[in-house]
Amino acid sequence: MTDSDPKNSRLANAAIEPMFTERWSSRSFQQNSISEDQIASLFEAARWAPSGSNRQPWAFVYATVGPDRDRFNAVLNENNSYWGPKASMIVLVFARIVDAEGKTIRTAQFDTGAAWMSLALQAHAMGLNTRAMGGIDLDAAYDAASVSRDEFQTICAIAVGTRGSDSNIPERMAKQNLANDRKAVGEIAFKGIYTG
Ligand SMILES: Cc1cc2nc3c(=O)[nH]c(=O)nc-3n(C[C@H](O)[C@H](O)[C@H](O)COP(=O)(O)O)c2cc1C
Repeated sequence: MTDSDPKNSRLANAAIEPMFTERWSSRSFQQNSISEDQIASLFEAARWAPSGSNRQPWAFVYATVGPDRDRFNAVLNENNSYWGPKASMIVLVFARIVDAEGKTIRTAQFDTGAAWMSLALQAHAMGLNTRAMGGIDLDAAYDAASVSRDEFQTICAIAVGTRGSDSNIPERMAKQNLANDRKAVGEIAFKGIYTG
């Protein structure tokens, strides 16, 4: 089993690129560093995501070490704080919800999700692991990253690094540190009429 292999079976029913099933979000990280080149490639991938009217309403604020990182670690909730601080980098993700004219950007969160997925797939292609965390103090994230509450919505944090051994995380988490399966395609895609 290589680092990129899922730890349980993720079978695609129709033909797709392997990156979609091979990527999964581990909670275990090696406590190593991430290079500036790697960081640049991750945000470069995010930069190319599509967005409504090409407004690119995402903001990624990242920290690796030092006081910035201490502030970001402090935003994680209890469960995420068992493993998140071990990752090489934490990214706080915000969506710009109003434009320069004060108009609501209706697709801001959707657009930001597309950028996160680009980042996650780029990370996977580079042999890195990512895990998003909604379990954060959404309000504290604004202060941790010096982001305006009036213009942005806190979305989540992302842990980024090299996948590590499950012995680095609490046993109850290690037991669940597996690649998750998905709903059947018939539960999420409908021809003509929603029948869910
Ligand atoms: C927006 C978002 C928030 C998430 N929040 C958390 C979290 O707070 N803690 C955690 O351990 N995992 C979190 N996850 C990880 C998901 O549980 C995981 O992506 C999902 O179970 C699918 O597994 P996979 O990414 O390994 O395919 C989050 C994922 C997303 C996309």
